[in-house]
Amino acid sequence: MSIDSRLDGVRRRLAAEMVDALLVTNMINIRYLTGFTGTNAYLLITPNSARFYSDGRYAVQAARQVSGSEVNICVSHAEVSDALSSIVKGQKLRRVAYESTDVTVASRGPSWEAPPGLDKVMTYLVGAEAVPAAGWIEELREVKDADEIASIRRAAELGDAGFDYIRKKVKPGVTERELALDLEFFLRSEGSEGMSFDPIVAAAENSALPHAQPTDRAVESGGFVLFDFGCIVDGYCSDMTRTLVVGPLDDRHREVYETVLAAQSAGLATASPGVPCGDVDRAARRVVEDAGYAEAFMHGVGHGVGLQIHEAPSLKIDRKEPLEPGHVITVEPGAYFEGWGGIRIEDLAAVTPDGLDVLSRAPRELIVV
Ligand code: GLY
Ligand code: MN
Repeated sequence: MSIDSRLDGVRRRLAAEMVDALLVTNMINIRYLTGFTGTNAYLLITPNSARFYSDGRYAVQAARQVSGSEVNICVSHAEVSDALSSIVKGQKLRRVAYESTDVTVASRGPSWEAPPGLDKVMTYLVGAEAVPAAGWIEELREVKDADEIASIRRAAELGDAGFDYIRKKVKPGVTERELALDLEFFLRSEGSEGMSFDPIVAAAENSALPHAQPTDRAVESGGFVLFDFGCIVDGYCSDMTRTLVVGPLDDRHREVYETVLAAQSAGLATASPGVPCGDVDRAARRVVEDAGYAEAFMHGVGHGVGLQIHEAPSLKIDRKEPLEPGHVITVEPGAYFEGWGGIRIEDLAAVTPDGLDVLSRAPRELIVV
């Protein structure tokens, strides 16, 4: 999907919501709608125009990156405010939507008459009815086009290479922090623009914390090591988790691992277009429950991934919206036992017209090192 067709999507929403314009302030949404990767910008979209505003630090970058919008560089916040206000007045924009999930309570200012520069958004809209718009662009972002999926696939491939690299570094004595640093250095050296989030490397009983942070804890014989990490390519994230055992392996390691693996297989087998998102969770959770570990799986089975690591659609059990071709999701059941350890297995996958294209290729079978 080109930038122009994304802007067309916004304009269809403007018409459906009967508003005259949308002011976009969320920087990830601005990136999606313009290509701009800087940290400060405003984007005003009307049925027949799109105006982008940033500051002097970004004059060259915006000229290179922004497409589909007229680029304006302002020397001060007040200048942006004045420019937007004069468009609101000059074009008689009566109903202007703003991203209500992005602006803060403080930004409303003490009144509609707040002086320019006091707040971030609302003063721009003086004279117009400010219409809260929650998630309009996020909904457009939910269904990825072929280029976006290609970027995510490359990020997933880098992640697979990273796992193949780091699994060989696992041995008693190496610490979580050393493994996390080594993994990140490898991935960034291989071309990842950054990490989708701070990598999780959790050894022994720390693996029972689903979102553990790497510590100086050393890897031990007879314990798990859990890796959860993602790469970024063209701004798009990947996400994967693998858990391995540092021998000797015992029956409980194997039994819980095989349960989580079966749950993950059930989730992957369920995910296809038209299936309610919550059914993926239900399918995976049933396997864990049937094995007697219901309480050990205390998070949702997955989430959408794109320019952000967590985005729509959510795969929580109560979500009834159907999966659609172009959704990119994770399937990541786990089972965690405080004081012993935990297992999670996570793949990234794109929903296709016929089913599911699993982008993660790292082996899912139990690895004992
Ligand atoms: N893989 C980390 C998360 O999904 O929260
Ligand atoms: Mn995840």
